[in-house]
Amino acid sequence: MLGAALSTSAGVVLADAAQDAIEYRRAVFQLVKWNFAPMGDMVKGKTEFDAERFEVLAQRLAALSEMPLEGFSVEGSDKGDTKARAEIWSQWDDFAAGMQQFEKNAQELASVASSGDLEQIKPAFAAVGKTCKGCHDNFKDK
Ligand code: HEC
Repeated sequence: MLGAALSTSAGVVLADAAQDAIEYRRAVFQLVKWNFAPMGDMVKGKTEFDAERFEVLAQRLAALSEMPLEGFSVEGSDKGDTKARAEIWSQWDDFAAGMQQFEKNAQELASVASSGDLEQIKPAFAAVGKTCKGCHDNFKDK
């Protein structure tokens, strides 16, 4: 690693930073999915509702929701092993607004989850799911 870093041109260093950014944001989204999916199963009644577990998952999701955006702010990270669409950068304000909405809704879900009341949790969970889908439809390749 050190040898590679010493011998590379600035261009290669930039390429590495872009690759790191892509890996970072994809990893964050894997964590998002890991925590989001079991909440969905509980909300849909596929698994038994466990209020304590749900609250842990919702708190993690709220923390994670703050993390993806910076992974898109690295120059050159539009190219490579990524499903990010070019529109992210040409419509950056819309994309960033989508992330902010995700953060806001995830925070609301975490606060509602502390009630342990599934009837309040359901709409808050649906609101988060809407932000995932809305953003993927516009900014992520299938
Ligand atoms: C504001 C936009 C936005 C929001 C909100 C968002 N995503 Fe994504 N998501 C993306 C983009 C863009 C990618 C593609 C990242 C890449 O390939 O570089 C992605 C990728 C993913 C991936 C694939 C990760 C991988 O291994 O490559 C998963 C899973 C995912 N998102 C789940 C979710 C879930 C679940 C939510 C909501 C709880 C969510 N996302 C919210 C934009 C968003």
